[in-house]
Amino acid sequence: RLLIIDFGSQVTQLIARRLRELNVYCEIHPFNMVTAEFLAEFAPKAVILSGGPASVIDEGSPRPPAEVFELGVPILGICYGQQVMMEMLGGKVERGDGTAEFGRAYVTPSQPLDLLNGWFDTGREQVWMSHGDHVAKIAPGFEVYATSPGAPFAVIADAARHFYAVQFHPEVHHTPNGRTLYKAFTQLAGFKGDWTMEAYRAEAVKKIREQVGDRKVICALSGGVDSSVAAVLLHEAIGENLTCVFVDHGLLRLNEAEEVVAMFRDHMNLRVIHAQEQDLFLGALEGVSDPEVKRKTIGKLFIDVFQRYAGEIEGAEFLAQGTLYPDVIESVSFSGGPSVTIKSHHNVGGLPEKMGLKLVEPLRELFKDEVRELGRELGLPPHFIGRHPFPGPGLAIRCPGEITREKLDILRKADAVYIDQIRKHGLYDEIWQAFVAILPVRTVGVMGDGRTYDFACALRAVTSVDGMTADYYPFSHDFLGETATRIINEVRGINRVTYDITSKPPGTIEWE
Ligand code: XMP
Repeated sequence: RLLIIDFGSQVTQLIARRLRELNVYCEIHPFNMVTAEFLAEFAPKAVILSGGPASVIDEGSPRPPAEVFELGVPILGICYGQQVMMEMLGGKVERGDGTAEFGRAYVTPSQPLDLLNGWFDTGREQVWMSHGDHVAKIAPGFEVYATSPGAPFAVIADAARHFYAVQFHPEVHHTPNGRTLYKAFTQLAGFKGDWTMEAYRAEAVKKIREQVGDRKVICALSGGVDSSVAAVLLHEAIGENLTCVFVDHGLLRLNEAEEVVAMFRDHMNLRVIHAQEQDLFLGALEGVSDPEVKRKTIGKLFIDVFQRYAGEIEGAEFLAQGTLYPDVIESVSFSGGPSVTIKSHHNVGGLPEKMGLKLVEPLRELFKDEVRELGRELGLPPHFIGRHPFPGPGLAIRCPGEITREKLDILRKADAVYIDQIRKHGLYDEIWQAFVAILPVRTVGVMGDGRTYDFACALRAVTSVDGMTADYYPFSHDFLGETATRIINEVRGINRVTYDITSKPPGTIEWE
């Protein structure tokens, strides 16, 4: 495996993405966790030193342990990583004179180098530079292999020791041939590119068995991709010793609870407890219209309910969670030291401590699209794996204002028609998330000879990569018109349909 030592660059995760795409297994660890002992234990086959915002000239700026250069394995330094290598191996780094180089540049070769196999077919390569300081003198043993007009040391190497250092970021999109560079690096380090999902699955099953043995595990199954894949993987590893609790809070979509339970119980043969607690949740939400109060009410009840059901499973010692890699990477922050970011809805409200349970998190090493791939590998149906994200508080936050059973019923039907339209037009996979929100207003309409006074609803559809920013989806007017007609004809209780064309920011994806 390959070790990426993180010095806090915004794009360190992209290095891991590029390597995983090449079927090379790697892990990111923050520089301050990487000690000489850690290195000995990890035994990397190659090391990458990431970029970072610090200046190597500053006292106390981050460094890898000197032992990294004695491992006898190939090392690639990127940007700050390059400067750290020079500083530690006897070169010299100078402070930028305030004119940081940032953006597109073109490098040309000075002499051939194994790292640059597949580069320069057209004479030069576009790269993305982003740095303040620069190397002034290269370390003994190093030579220059490529330059750009602004960077005399764009690519340098001590070819005998397989130490490579580049001034630009090969992992970003704006270095179009960066993948080739990573491929060359991993190949010369002896990686065969044979890390596959099939291998991961076998390895993960083995690890779960080692951790859990013949003890019992409980899992909160939400029907979302992460918890579903985690559950199926655990089931493969420990079979009947896994019990899933599916909490039905009455805020799910049309037929969702039945479909999820049937799939896991009947199709995948998992033990699933269907906690039918609609009355409890909807009762507690009566009269509540503040979005944050809704979230807190649902979150707290969820924990109570889960605890109650889980308490009945005798001898359970582990709680399974579908935590993903981006949630656990310790990001290096220079304001307050390394921090662990865990999305609050992944970490079920401190449940493990409260219940004295140990955690089992079989997806900790995977990115979202890898989880989907693992899900396919485990036999989950493709339509299920490709489902849009659905928030924990469910329809509660798609029903602005007070929630009533009447409104929820109307909302479910309208949402089902809308999603059906999107699927029929082949648009589902182009959209990050699509749903209907029922508005807390009634409007006047005419139908046939009569006057109606019914609810208005808003359709929402956005494209996004991570849910942090989003654009509204540009449906055709024909699509919108047809969908509005269908909703009004097929769903009693709605007589007006609007389309939300707000992007995020300034809007959010959900209405609450
Ligand atoms: P917003 O509305 O903040 O949503 O733009 C971004 C993404 O997060 C989801 N979301 C939630 N998920 N609990 C969740 O589990 C919540 O309280 C919650 N609020 C928003 C939302 O569906 C979108 O994917």
